[in-house]
Amino acid sequence: MKTAGRPTLALAVLVPGILVACGPSEPAAKVFYRRCAACHGMDGKGRTRFAEGRPYADLTDGKWKHGGDRASIRRLVADGDPGSPMPAFGDRLTPGEIDLSVDYVLRVAGPGAEVPPPPAPAGAR
Ligand code: HEC
Repeated sequence: MKTAGRPTLALAVLVPGILVACGPSEPAAKVFYRRCAACHGMDGKGRTRFAEGRPYADLTDGKWKHGGDRASIRRLVADGDPGSPMPAFGDRLTPGEIDLSVDYVLRVAGPGAEVPPPPAPAGAR
């Protein structure tokens, strides 16, 4: 059908605009909502068109490429992952905002989050 796409497109443009205008007010959720949720989703599962097919964009599965402890997550958020769409936020967010976004990650990541990264396999870069 030719006409079916139009209302959908209008919604796709309007709804995020409305959501941004009245997003969450709690500080950690606010930062995550503004800067991270487009890719990771507010549930942290990464089921978005920007992160689809990238398993490490799921922050809730207990699997960490860069380590699931606070310091490792913080470093990753600040430096980004050059080999992936994950941007570096070191010069886009204040240190306080980065901390808040990490708070949020740890919150959605659940009980398995604050664990040290597994040792790198022999021969890994
Ligand atoms: C443009 C999309 C995008 C945005 C915006 C984004 N991320 Fe990511 N992020 C990704 C992708 C894709 C990955 C997976 C990287 C990979 O495949 O190696 C990732 C990975 C991560 C990881 C690492 C998970 C692991 O396994 O070690 C963390 C933590 C993370 N993001 C947190 C954040 C936070 C916090 C923000 C906001 C400040 C954010 N991301 C914004 C796309 C994004």
